[in-house]
Amino acid sequence: MKRTPEPQELMDEADQARAYAEADFSAANEQFLDLFAQAHPGNFKGRMLDLGCGPADIPLRLARRYPDARIDAVDGAPAMLELAQQAISAENLDSRIQLHCQYLPTSSLPRLYDAVVSNSLLHHLNDPLDLWRSITSCALPGGLVLVMDLLRPETPEQADTLVAEYAADAPEVLRRDFHASLHAAYTLNEVREQLRACGLHTLKIAQVSDRHLAVTGTLP
Ligand SMILES: C[S@@+](CC[C@H](N)C(=O)[O-])C[C@H]1O[C@@H](n2cnc3c(N)ncnc32)[C@H](O)[C@@H]1O
Repeated sequence: MKRTPEPQELMDEADQARAYAEADFSAANEQFLDLFAQAHPGNFKGRMLDLGCGPADIPLRLARRYPDARIDAVDGAPAMLELAQQAISAENLDSRIQLHCQYLPTSSLPRLYDAVVSNSLLHHLNDPLDLWRSITSCALPGGLVLVMDLLRPETPEQADTLVAEYAADAPEVLRRDFHASLHAAYTLNEVREQLRACGLHTLKIAQVSDRHLAVTGTLP
């Protein structure tokens, strides 16, 4: 089916951010950590950047699994960052996870990261190349990249089926957002083309579930 962009890039409505923060994304987010562990076996020591961190569930999981990691987490939505800060403080991880309110694209993120990760941001962006250019400008040479996102279904009916399967009991605002996100997501070929356009030939793309794709690898 044809892509329909998200009605808005940022998730900055209070009820939208809260519904997202309270939803259970543990299966997909644990899969994200497993993909990171496959790309970087063993302990990770260094600086990570999470782009479009939302309520910071992934930075928190990374901080717990990698006690030597320091994480900068970026989002453009103050409503999301407020919930993220509460979650980080509740676990006393303020010294290891720093939040930054930044709207991508931005030129104010430094090139000092050993790993740049992002989950479910790509399909939100008006220009998807903003994500890949941000990664290129922030990751150190040899830096690890992991981007996971939704995969656009082939038909509207398949999108409806996925919403019914994975968000049957979710609040209406979450079902609406999931439906819009599936319609806004990219196909494997579209992401391949984005990587090619940005010269990211060392990164590999794969379908990793019935509704997700992942891009992993290291920069030259
Ligand atoms: C679907 S959420 C994903 C949150 C988180 N990564 C996760 O996996 O739970 C997408 C997030 O990207 C943020 N976002 C969207 N467009 C953005 C942009 N241009 N700059 C910064 N953040 C953006 C939204 O505000 C939202 O918090």
